[in-house]
Amino acid sequence: MRTFCRQSRVLIVAGKGGVGKTTMVAAIAHLAARTGLSVLVVELEGRTGVASAFGHAVPLGYAGSVLLAAGAEPVDDDGEGGDDPGPSAIRPGTVRARTITPDDALVEYLADHGLKRVSKRLMSSGIIDLVAGAIPGIRDVLVLGKVKQIERSGMADLVLVDAPATGHAMTFLSSARGLLDAARGGPVRTQAAEVVDLLSDPERCQVALVTLPEEMPVNEAIEAAFQLEDKVGVALGPVIVNGCYPEVDGLAVTAAGAVALARVTVGDDLVSSLEAARRFRTTRADLQNEQLERLGNQLPLAQLRVPFLFADAIGPSELDILSDALANGVAALHDPAGASP
Ligand SMILES: Nc1ncnc2c1ncn2[C@@H]1O[C@H](COP(=O)(O)OP(=O)(O)OP(=O)(O)O)[C@@H](O)[C@H]1O
Ligand SMILES: [Mg+2]
Repeated sequence: MRTFCRQSRVLIVAGKGGVGKTTMVAAIAHLAARTGLSVLVVELEGRTGVASAFGHAVPLGYAGSVLLAAGAEPVDDDGEGGDDPGPSAIRPGTVRARTITPDDALVEYLADHGLKRVSKRLMSSGIIDLVAGAIPGIRDVLVLGKVKQIERSGMADLVLVDAPATGHAMTFLSSARGLLDAARGGPVRTQAAEVVDLLSDPERCQVALVTLPEEMPVNEAIEAAFQLEDKVGVALGPVIVNGCYPEVDGLAVTAAGAVALARVTVGDDLVSSLEAARRFRTTRADLQNEQLERLGNQLPLAQLRVPFLFADAIGPSELDILSDALANGVAALHDPAGASP
């Protein structure tokens, strides 16, 4: 499990709007922390989804906050040791989360390059917007440049990026390549080149696509996968199929048939409600299986299936179930016969 979570130092979680990217970021973070890894979640839009899945109500800030504290002392069972992570290192088994916005990333970039006072003045005079307008893609490169810097610093074993929805994510991830073609030299080119290096090295960075077992999300996932490989040149990890309805036994028998078999007396209303539920689940299961099969045929990537949870919201107890499901999926990839259903 730990090896699986360490396939790349940065994992960008992408997919169509609303398919559960943020929820899966939280579940992967939870799983990785359980295996003793230190995890940093990066939110790009300052939403609160990841924090609330861990039971925190506060929005994330640029400075970041701890979502899951390590319960145990550092675990290092793989004997790799690794680089010295430095003083800002996240403790093993801990999940931290922070946001990265282009403006903050630029201010920090300038400060790191000895231009702290200039950057403050630029911010207050609004020149930064002008610069961003003049150099298309610079905002995305600044954000990914910051992700790259975090990755290089070794402060976390796994950096999970909650990417924007597909269309925007494609622009976000291909901006660096565009800038590399446009800028012949200077710091912008250096930054873009370093981001391209990050994105094209599968040991440093991969993308996990999230989808639902439904027609449109599956279409989008297939299209996005090919575009990501062709346009961005980034390696793809397994595709996460979220929201899978669990199989229910006994759906082949009608509600009336089941009542007769059980020799009980049940009101007509209840029988027709049960029958409607049975039909819904049967139809849903057929559609789901059809889409899962299509996804498997058209996208040669491993699938991790995650159940749909009948809950009002995703909180810590739902997160346990979702990360268990991911763990089972990972186990099944390595030992198809041995995983629990
Ligand atoms: N497996 C699941 N079972 C039940 N509800 C889920 C599941 N996964 C996600 N949800 C719910 O679906 C909604 C959308 O999930 P989420 O916010 O993670 O999607 P998203 O892809 O990040 O959306 P956006 O594109 O808006 O960022 C949320 O209300 C979340 O709680
Ligand atoms: Mg989201």
